Amino acid sequence: MSVREYRRSGKPVTGEISVPGDKSISHRAAIFGAMAEGVTVIDGFLTGEDCLHTLSCLRQLGVEIEREGDRVLVHGRGYEALKEPADVLDVGNSGTTMRLLTGLVAARPFYSVLSGDRSLNSRPMDRVARPLSQMGAKFYGRAGGKYAPLTVIGSRLQPIRYISPVASAQVKSALLLAGLQTEGVTEVVEPEPSRDHTERMIQAFGGRVETDGRHHRVIGPQRLTATRIKVPGDPSSAAFFIALAALTPGSRLVIRNVCINPTRAGFIEALKRMGADIRTGNKREVGGEPVADLDVRYAPLSATEIAGEIVPSMIDEIPVFALVAARAQGRTVIRDAGELKVKETNRIKTVVGELKKLGVRIEETTDGMIIDGEPDRLMTGGEVDAHGDHRLAMMLAVASQACEDPVLVHGADAVSVSFPGFSELFAALTQK
Ligand code: S3P
Repeated sequence: MSVREYRRSGKPVTGEISVPGDKSISHRAAIFGAMAEGVTVIDGFLTGEDCLHTLSCLRQLGVEIEREGDRVLVHGRGYEALKEPADVLDVGNSGTTMRLLTGLVAARPFYSVLSGDRSLNSRPMDRVARPLSQMGAKFYGRAGGKYAPLTVIGSRLQPIRYISPVASAQVKSALLLAGLQTEGVTEVVEPEPSRDHTERMIQAFGGRVETDGRHHRVIGPQRLTATRIKVPGDPSSAAFFIALAALTPGSRLVIRNVCINPTRAGFIEALKRMGADIRTGNKREVGGEPVADLDVRYAPLSATEIAGEIVPSMIDEIPVFALVAARAQGRTVIRDAGELKVKETNRIKTVVGELKKLGVRIEETTDGMIIDGEPDRLMTGGEVDAHGDHRLAMMLAVASQACEDPVLVHGADAVSVSFPGFSELFAALTQK
């Protein structure tokens, strides 16, 4: 396991950067490319390990894929042409790969086994297996079908109307991917809107989906047509550098080409509420997604409350948000975030545990955390552990810039799951 030492530079963070392509959009561009007919060209594809696992699984399903850097060509021949994989589909650490591919293969008349790393194989898969079983696919997994390795025996499915107990884009997407291949109306209802990249992507590939943000319907079967996708910068990756500039006195950082889709923009909205100076310029649409350049300047922050509808739109940013709250004046409360418990780690436990080691006054609650921010006192520093979780590894690196002593991050190499080049970019900005 890699250990990395980070030291506070004490200097302002300045300049102009861009971040790699969006993870959720990259997964979907490849999967829809595989289902469509023709050659889909994807530019700005995220070459992090999660998305590379999606490509290798699709290849095992018989799809020809070429990649040169961040350009990917998917030679789609329609979903009917997908073939039974000869071996286990290895998804690594990627929940999105497993849940979306489960929806894809549930409607194909063959046998697949999906498995991942230790963390992935302890995350709940019954949330997709249950509704897909109602549609007629058969599932076998550990603990009565809850955990991977997951066996899927696909078949011709029946459409259903599914009321999901959780706001989850992965659950919604799995069902819509199955529904696109199934005769009749497949409908998913969510308690709160989740990220809508799948709905946007269906349209980009010439398909039809009806949605009002919470109710989503596809009428199948549908044929999809190959297209060109330009993947915008990932707002979840940008969040670490937004936090770095927002917390470091004197900073001004421009982050170009970031996806500002409202279903992903909760972190920026929450920081603005706390007094952060984040300006969005050069707004435009790229590949059916809203994109902008972000101009972030240091400003003193004050505490806020996070609950309800904003939570799904910043769920992956909560680890770094907790750090921001630790540097804001007053008590920040995060509620309605129980989903954090089933991410790459139990992020309520791991975030609270690791920030405590750095001297942050932070406590766990049943569905979130409470943070008493102390902007006037540097955090302590010391040895911390990313627990194999990429977002924890990056948050702890950023935290070092508010710590008096060096921060030693165990498992810092987890960053490669979603952000290849993070360490180099971080070093370039903090060691100038
Ligand atoms: C994702 C959806 C979210 C998010 C994950 C990516 C996606 O998970 O946390 O990192 O690409 O659909 P849930 O669907 O479980 O909320």
